[in-house]
Amino acid sequence: MAQKKWTTSLIVLLVLFLYVFFHFITVTKQLEKTVAKLQHGQKAVSHLPHIILISQEFDNPYWRKIEQGAKEAGKKNNVNIEYIGPLRTSIDEQVKLLEKAIASRVDGIIVQNLKDEAFTPLIDKAISRNIPVITIDADAPKSRRIAYVGTNNFEAGQLLGKAVVSRVEGERAIGVIIGTDTSENQRLRLQGFLSVIAEQPRLQVVSITSSNISRIQASIQAEQMLRKHPNISVMVGTSALDAIGIRMAVKNLHRENIQIFGFDDVEETMEAIKEGDIVATVVQKPYDMGYSAVKLMVEHLSGKQIDKEHFTAIEVIDRQNVQQERNK
Ligand code: BGC
Repeated sequence: MAQKKWTTSLIVLLVLFLYVFFHFITVTKQLEKTVAKLQHGQKAVSHLPHIILISQEFDNPYWRKIEQGAKEAGKKNNVNIEYIGPLRTSIDEQVKLLEKAIASRVDGIIVQNLKDEAFTPLIDKAISRNIPVITIDADAPKSRRIAYVGTNNFEAGQLLGKAVVSRVEGERAIGVIIGTDTSENQRLRLQGFLSVIAEQPRLQVVSITSSNISRIQASIQAEQMLRKHPNISVMVGTSALDAIGIRMAVKNLHRENIQIFGFDDVEETMEAIKEGDIVATVVQKPYDMGYSAVKLMVEHLSGKQIDKEHFTAIEVIDRQNVQQERNK
């Protein structure tokens, strides 16, 4: 009996390993192909306008939704969308991809700003070469980008703060994990969050650190934070995989009484809300961001005047409305 269980577990593990392995290989190949095309300055095979979308992390579920929206808008508007991004988040890698896109004279670039000093000069270089740039998800307001499409991140941070204030009782110490410490969106979310918490003398943020948008790092950082500050009883994460990383840490340390708040609606976060492990999450609209960015780029390319800022919707999801949200 025990032997049978072992064999079944081994087979399941093997299948899982093979799945992850082949997925990784496929993604790497896909990425290499696109980058090689860019490197050789090749235009897309078709005569359609060629728009490149550069993400923070190629296979991140949040960015895959942006890709989906962008490709859908591409199909509807007859433009060719090429989606690329580093395999693991890296400012240097992302900058290289942006440089390649500029060198290969694409018709338009949609990119997230991970760090002002690195991205602003490159965005301006693209503009001076007549390649329009739209920032997505994280803005570069000091650059000459033609528009920003994404969340109003200060407001999103405030919404997270309000979600905490209305759902936790009494005097509490709070730990915060942000995605990256250089990007505009995380900086604004944190500012917005802290501005709301500062008005509540009963709530205190005792530690802030960054996960580098990795769920494993979020978990490691959360574990260290909770060991160092045993009085923390509320933890918040401000990028898509932070809350599920925090949840791993809380489980490892058997500190399940900690209330967790997060960002975005990746599958695991929604499941954890249903199970009561995560209290609430601020949900952005990545699909809409991708869709609108492409639509606006097409309008710009056809000579229309477009506004500089396009904020997509945000909302809070908790146990009360998680089911409705799932059925949408
Ligand atoms: C942020 C993105 C980030 C993603 C990482 C989202 O909340 O808006 O900037 O790349 O989380 O998982």
